[in-house]
Amino acid sequence: LDNGLARTPPMGWMHWERFRCITNCTEDPENCLSEKLIMETADRMAADGYRDAGYKYISIDDCWMSKQRDSSGRLQSDPIRFPSGIKALADYVHSKGLKLGIYEDFGQYTCMGYPGSEFYLELDANTFAEWGVDMLKLDGCNSNIHDMTAGYETMGFFLNRTNRPILYACSWPAYTDSTANLTDYNVIKKHCNMWRNYRDIQDSWEITLDIINYYGKDDGGFSQLAGPGAWNDPDEVTNLRKMRASSKELLLNKRLLAINQDPLGIQGVRLWQTGSVGAWMRPLAGNKTYAIALLNSDNQGVPTTVNVKLENFGLTQESSYTFYDAFDGSSFGTFSVNDTIKVRINPTRKIKFNKFIN
Ligand code: DGJ
Repeated sequence: LDNGLARTPPMGWMHWERFRCITNCTEDPENCLSEKLIMETADRMAADGYRDAGYKYISIDDCWMSKQRDSSGRLQSDPIRFPSGIKALADYVHSKGLKLGIYEDFGQYTCMGYPGSEFYLELDANTFAEWGVDMLKLDGCNSNIHDMTAGYETMGFFLNRTNRPILYACSWPAYTDSTANLTDYNVIKKHCNMWRNYRDIQDSWEITLDIINYYGKDDGGFSQLAGPGAWNDPDEVTNLRKMRASSKELLLNKRLLAINQDPLGIQGVRLWQTGSVGAWMRPLAGNKTYAIALLNSDNQGVPTTVNVKLENFGLTQESSYTFYDAFDGSSFGTFSVNDTIKVRINPTRKIKFNKFIN
């Protein structure tokens, strides 16, 4: 969507994967979806270096609402969990130099049964703009998939008419994908800044790998649609209040972020998959510069050494290429096109817990 937003992939936090629809704050005050959770996460984003690394959006997902619209039909936040209201929360998030995202659903109800935007698209767009919201995730539960093209376009029209810059994240293809002829990515790209293609990510390596493979298969070539203002969205995870040092280091790694935020915005694709090892590549801005990833998805936890000819990465235009490790910046050395590069790759092991650890 050419609205000046999301010229590189938007970076931020979304509550759903970790905090779900926990609405009982008496029973679970730390994890329930409330203004306290959002404010504490905003504090962490600002104080722990995430904001300054580029993570700007803090986004509330499903279950923030009251079950009823007010007497004039407007959405209202749950009075117990969001007593100050969304406008005050947006002010707080803005005071931290961050942006606030909110969630609605294009259908009659949200996935968790809260009031949806069906018949209220204009009023809801105006409400979000008045509250100072900077992003809308519009889900697709409880709707007719045949209405999605018209519905998502209409919401986009009303958002645009508010004159407030609101990043528009659609769930449209994730719902229409099973009936592929209803997914026209060119139309989606015209109307949305980003779009969920596929299933929800969970705390599960199998599901994470399944999503990676979905992107690896790239059916119909949806990877080609990505670019400034328009992104495929594989879904995301985080709990910023309890972050392992190693995870934080990864999320703040400047070299990895520079690859993610490369101004060309060309999505990486899987070049090949041989056994458990897959090779991914994306061109980066700069003269004949590329990011290459090798993923060992061996599910028994076995490290592998691969020998790859540079031509197997498609690197044939130059006489030689210099390789750097994007994790730590160290050099692998310079290789000529006829050389073979030898890389040892540890797997991300499937971890089995024999009891649930909280
Ligand atoms: C389904 C979406 O795919 C999830 O990301 C989340 O928004 C839930 N709905 C909320 O009910």
